[in-house]
Amino acid sequence: MKNTGGGDAAKRRAGEAAADDVEEGMVVGLGTGSTAAHAIRAVGERSLDVEGVPTSFQSRQLAIEAGIPLTTLEEASVDLAIDGADQVAGGDLVKGGGAAHAREKYVDASADRFVVVADPSKEVEALDYPVPVEVLPDARPVVAERVRGLGGKPELRAAERKDGPVVTDNGNLVLDCEFGSMQDPEALAASLSALPGVVEHGLFVGLADAVYVGTDGGVRVTDA
Ligand code: A5P
Repeated sequence: MKNTGGGDAAKRRAGEAAADDVEEGMVVGLGTGSTAAHAIRAVGERSLDVEGVPTSFQSRQLAIEAGIPLTTLEEASVDLAIDGADQVAGGDLVKGGGAAHAREKYVDASADRFVVVADPSKEVEALDYPVPVEVLPDARPVVAERVRGLGGKPELRAAERKDGPVVTDNGNLVLDCEFGSMQDPEALAASLSALPGVVEHGLFVGLADAVYVGTDGGVRVTDA
């Protein structure tokens, strides 16, 4: 389930502005999705002596194509992470439209600075986008039941060009969980994290340092 709204030009402006923050020698967390992809390409075009920590198969491939050497969290710590979002309310996010939120969360959270890149269609007053919850395959029924107990409506994410479900880069399944308008995303995030069988969910609360939104005329930067 992907929030595909917004224009590509706005995504590109946001991605390129974040790429401008990358400095010589930095280790950069490379987010997933179409907006982060613009940032990855822009970092590559700057030909800096940097290394990247990818958050998915997709961002790894893009980094290789862009000429960004890769490293791991075992070998380096992340100075700046740049990542997209499916929805943004203040500094809180719903992520995981590309099912990459588990790796995205620990890479983004580990960074000294985490910059979100987005187009204006992602901005809302209160988060209401279905929350992707990555689950161990065998745990799907029990997690779905517990999500219903939290007031959510879980739906197994189906693959588009394969029969059956989406399987994440980690070999797990995704439940997209509709909660309506989330008045207390921090509490919901804690409740979802506590469910046995949950690998990670797409609520990113209090993790972002800044949000860069591409607009018609440029980029609007908000500290989170
Ligand atoms: C990947 O799982 C997601 O968290 C993406 O970062 C999110 O879906 C944003 O993608 P776009 O930049 O393509 O909108």
